[in-house]
Amino acid sequence: MKLAVANQKGGVGKTTLAFHLIHAWAEEGKKVLAVDMDPQGDLTSSLWSGDLPGTALVARVFEGKPPLPLEVGQGVFLVAAEISLSVHEKDLSLKNYFRLKTWLDSAGDSYDAVVVDCPPSLGLFTINALVAAQWVVAPVDVSFYSVRALGDLLGSLEELKEIGEGARLLGIAPFAFATRQRATRAVQELLEEEYGDLVFPWVIPSSARVREALILGKPVWRLRRDEQAVGESFRRLALEIWKRAYGGGRG
Ligand SMILES: Nc1ncnc2c1ncn2[C@@H]1O[C@H](COP(=O)(O)OP(=O)(O)OP(=O)(O)O)[C@@H](O)[C@H]1O
Ligand SMILES: [Mg+2]
Repeated sequence: MKLAVANQKGGVGKTTLAFHLIHAWAEEGKKVLAVDMDPQGDLTSSLWSGDLPGTALVARVFEGKPPLPLEVGQGVFLVAAEISLSVHEKDLSLKNYFRLKTWLDSAGDSYDAVVVDCPPSLGLFTINALVAAQWVVAPVDVSFYSVRALGDLLGSLEELKEIGEGARLLGIAPFAFATRQRATRAVQELLEEEYGDLVFPWVIPSSARVREALILGKPVWRLRRDEQAVGESFRRLALEIWKRAYGGGRG
């Protein structure tokens, strides 16, 4: 299963979600490949704090060389990103949009799941992920701007479909950053009106421990007992995403 976590809006929870899906599935005994397509390298630094061998960098796909995934934990393999990845964004030749797909079409089959974390833009790196993956999950913070950004993401998926490429939207995962309950509910209703059962029917609660989890490199459910609610919501989401992907979509 190849899944991209995308939303061109920044700071909505993409990396946090990718990190927790990777851990949830690896803990179930699955072999998971994490691909960091964001030159910010946030997923990379949450999964690995040591030196990065150049061979493990996703930038290699843009040089026509296969990366060598780095084993970063039990069942977790990483193809990493760092800021130097951004030099490849200048080459907008058609071929450059298919680099990740070309590599994952062969290499991806030896994993139970491939999770690609995208940068906050609809540029070359996100399009590479959308072309390479079968499914997209879009985290959204519950704000009106976020709802508009989703429309653009879906527009890109439609355009890719027209040329016979591109992933399908598997689901929308609302993250509750806002503490203003009424605003949160209003946006949630709008999302459900617009996207129906594509919206996962629960919200990832806001918790300061989530940030700590990524810094410590441990999923939030392994931090401490009082984080059960947020931990549970990530695990439920991981399970639901798996079910949807293998059920061919919603329902
Ligand atoms: N449930 C949550 N509760 C509280 N804080 C959260 C939660 N989820 C994510 N955060 C925090 O919000 C910030 C943005 O999250 P994250 O980095 O996952 O977003 P992103 O979409 O990957 O951002 P970017 O677009 O820059 O890649 C981080 O500091 C993260 O720790
Ligand atoms: Mg991120």
